Amino acid sequence: MLREEFAIFEEAPALIDPVLPFVYLDSAATMQRPNQVIEREVEYYKTQNANPLRGLYKLSEQSTEVLNQTRIKVAKYIGADPDEVVFIKNATEGINLIANGVREVIGEKDKILVSLDSHHSNILPFTERYGKQVVVTEDILGEFKRGKEAVKIVALTGLSNVSGEEQNELIRELRESGYGGAILVDAAQLVAHRRIDVKKMDVDFLVFSGHKMGAPMGVGILYMRREWMEKITPLNYGGEMVEGVECQNGAIKSEFAFGPQKFEGGTINMGGVAGLSAAIDFWQEHNKDNKLFGVVEELTSFLKEQIGEIEDAEMYYAKNGIVLLNIKGVHAHDTAQILSNYGVMVRAGWHCAEPFLTEKKIGPAVRVSLMFYNTKNELKYLTSILKKVRSEMGL
Ligand code: ALA
Repeated sequence: MLREEFAIFEEAPALIDPVLPFVYLDSAATMQRPNQVIEREVEYYKTQNANPLRGLYKLSEQSTEVLNQTRIKVAKYIGADPDEVVFIKNATEGINLIANGVREVIGEKDKILVSLDSHHSNILPFTERYGKQVVVTEDILGEFKRGKEAVKIVALTGLSNVSGEEQNELIRELRESGYGGAILVDAAQLVAHRRIDVKKMDVDFLVFSGHKMGAPMGVGILYMRREWMEKITPLNYGGEMVEGVECQNGAIKSEFAFGPQKFEGGTINMGGVAGLSAAIDFWQEHNKDNKLFGVVEELTSFLKEQIGEIEDAEMYYAKNGIVLLNIKGVHAHDTAQILSNYGVMVRAGWHCAEPFLTEKKIGPAVRVSLMFYNTKNELKYLTSILKKVRSEMGL
């Protein structure tokens, strides 16, 4: 569906291999860009490029307007207020910003809970800074109930990049159990599979990378509930994040800007911001009544059925566009390489979710990840290759 909106399906196959099919099944790693996103980024650099927030001339003012309007658009899209929307590089940067920024509100005896199904980007920013104060667990609710007072932050994964499972229910249960501390949601995968409303979700922080929803790489969003803005320290100190910097008796004294700018030190990826704006337009235009999410659900069920018929396949998960599997007796990397030889692109290995895949005794696996632009014919083709993997390996 909507394949004509994506130039890559027209232009890349001939460059990669003029003969092989071009079957892209790695959208959880990065979604392809709709043409309007690419065009909008090019247009920004061709007609509006100037450093925003700094210049007192028209071109810079126009660039500032692109920034401000996109902030408003993102806010509406995720149910936030514009001054709670921070532009970041990607979800990883957003989680590091929070993990670093809460240092002063985390006492030595406090605890941070991180859900086991998290991507390394949701685990390491906490474990590397707070060591044993961090509990990485599948039983977030039980862990909270056991150490109520000590728990100050719960970091969850909106939609797992290996199982496709969601955690909305857990947020509700936590709140109902009396948890009033901070909740952070890594929405890197969620953003392309569900509508997000941060107020309804009742979360304090939510992050996503634009490229998972078709925006350019290098731009992302951190939602920060207003009351945290004062308490969190910035990750990047630099230009445009201060009200003023004074030199008093040889000592530097600075006063931070209030609101999102406090966390946006340095020049922003404005081409990315313009592209993100176009990506949101794309979803709003084509995803009425969650039509695109529905297409992915249907493709997921179809693939689940297809793979269920392969005797040699071990399928671990199939949900929300994520299908995780292995071919019995074949390492995931070998399966992925064979698929690649036939023009099928999937991700294989630990998927930056090693604690989860270890605990589940799955280990490295092949991940097929779907988007609305995939077709049932592509999935039939994938299945036909998966059926040959063992014989190609000489087994
Ligand atoms: N986080 C991305 C993935 O799961 C890169 O593939």
